[in-house]
Amino acid sequence: MALERTLSIIKPDAVAKNVIGEIYSRFEKGGLKVVASKMKHLSRKEAEGFYAVHRERPFFNALVEFMISGPVMIQALEGENAIAKNRELMGATNPKDAAPGTIRADFADSIDANAVHGSDAPETAAVEIAYFFASTEIFPR
Ligand code: PPS
Repeated sequence: MALERTLSIIKPDAVAKNVIGEIYSRFEKGGLKVVASKMKHLSRKEAEGFYAVHRERPFFNALVEFMISGPVMIQALEGENAIAKNRELMGATNPKDAAPGTIRADFADSIDANAVHGSDAPETAAVEIAYFFASTEIFPR
């Protein structure tokens, strides 16, 4: 198994629900270490840049508006198969389809307010981590 890093964002809906700690606990119980972390209120430019790959999709503007509607908690997670593990902990994109006990099943309200983001592949994880963290802000242990 590969030691990987992934980029996770606790979205404005989950931050507003005061479940940052509950979600961190799931990462830790799932074998993932938080190796970098920051709370941030994204600017429109930052959100548009982060989601640039989705620019042509019909929900792009709604996604950006939502992501700038309040502060987010951003973290890099490290562990064995961290990318797949985090996505397993998150559950399906639409909380209606998310397996019981997953973060989205428990904390998300809808497909557009779905509590968490997680990188989907090693290449995107590297780009997304570098988007928010300098190498000096990452603390592997
Ligand atoms: S995924 O998880 O990347 O495979 O999902 P995908 O369907 O490609 O969606 C990409 C991101 O867009 C969000 N999304 C939406 N936002 C608003 N409205 C609608 N209808 C919608 N559908 C998808 C989805 O949550 C993904 O955001 P992130 O932050 O990457 O999880």
